[in-house]
Amino acid sequence: MLLVLGAGYVGAALADRALAAGEEVVLADNWYATERGQVAPLEERGARVETADIRSRGDIEGLLALDPARVYLLAAQASRPLAESDPDYTEETNVTGIRLVAEAIGARGGPAVVFGSSLHVYGTGLEGEVDATQPYGEQRDLAHLSKIYGELVLAMHARRAGADLAILRLGILYGPSPVEHDRPESQTVVDKFRLLAARGEPLPVDDGGRAALGVAHVDDVARILLEAPHQPGVSAANVAAETLTVADIAALAEGRECAGNAPLAFATPFGYGQRVADYLRRS
Ligand SMILES: NC(=O)c1ccc[n+]([C@@H]2O[C@H](COP(=O)([O-])OP(=O)(O)OC[C@H]3O[C@@H](n4cnc5c(N)ncnc54)[C@H](O)[C@@H]3O)[C@@H](O)[C@H]2O)c1
Repeated sequence: MLLVLGAGYVGAALADRALAAGEEVVLADNWYATERGQVAPLEERGARVETADIRSRGDIEGLLALDPARVYLLAAQASRPLAESDPDYTEETNVTGIRLVAEAIGARGGPAVVFGSSLHVYGTGLEGEVDATQPYGEQRDLAHLSKIYGELVLAMHARRAGADLAILRLGILYGPSPVEHDRPESQTVVDKFRLLAARGEPLPVDDGGRAALGVAHVDDVARILLEAPHQPGVSAANVAAETLTVADIAALAEGRECAGNAPLAFATPFGYGQRVADYLRRS
């Protein structure tokens, strides 16, 4: 059985794929950002849905007692604007909650954990090829700063316990998932630009759109998560099919040629079936 902590955008896409592959799935969430009703179709297809909060030792123990073969740790306060308006909740979930999961799994000596981190851990001002050995960089918000703590506390407990941990540093994701959030602060740039361009509205491109982003389609990410971890022990890898500037994404959304001149490229060990250009061309 696969335990998915966090039944949000990524967790639901993963559950969707796992169920299609015949896996047994438990989806757990405290319904902070996702409504329970959004996962009802997954429940109908056989997922067991549990209400649980990673800030609660008892809730975590209750889920681990189900004896999962693997835990996907995707529960988080992931929004940058909400990190500004609710820093306490962000820390309680992303720092204390992640530590409690790390401790509980460490104490049991497993199972293997796959942690959904972020390419933001490397900070800004990057150039050239950026692989998973790149040091952590400066952070601008608690939603991403807390990912660094999460990686380190999970690695500390996994190493002590001799358990497997795959840290996957996700780029900006796009594409449909059984769970999508309508709040503008939860929409990421590819899908936001896609919608605006379809309505013929101008695309908000700050600073000439020079910022470079690693991006990946959520279907590719769900597959990569399902196949992880690829190696025993503690590992970290980037998950980005391509690296584009915001100006590139705007150009593709408006059906123009993109310059493709991002000053960096995220190295990744995985294969990807989907590209932003194809996704935006189809829309
Ligand atoms: N979506 C992206 O583009 C993207 C990019 C990089 C990294 N990530 C990371 O991947 C992970 C999953 O992202 P997502 O897009 O699915 O986010 P999401 O907000 O859709 O899902 C997170 C889920 O965690 C739940 N949650 C919040 N607090 C909780 C708590 N205390 N206990 C239990 N559940 C709680 C929320 O209700 C939500 O359903 C996050 O850590 C996020 O930072 C996502």
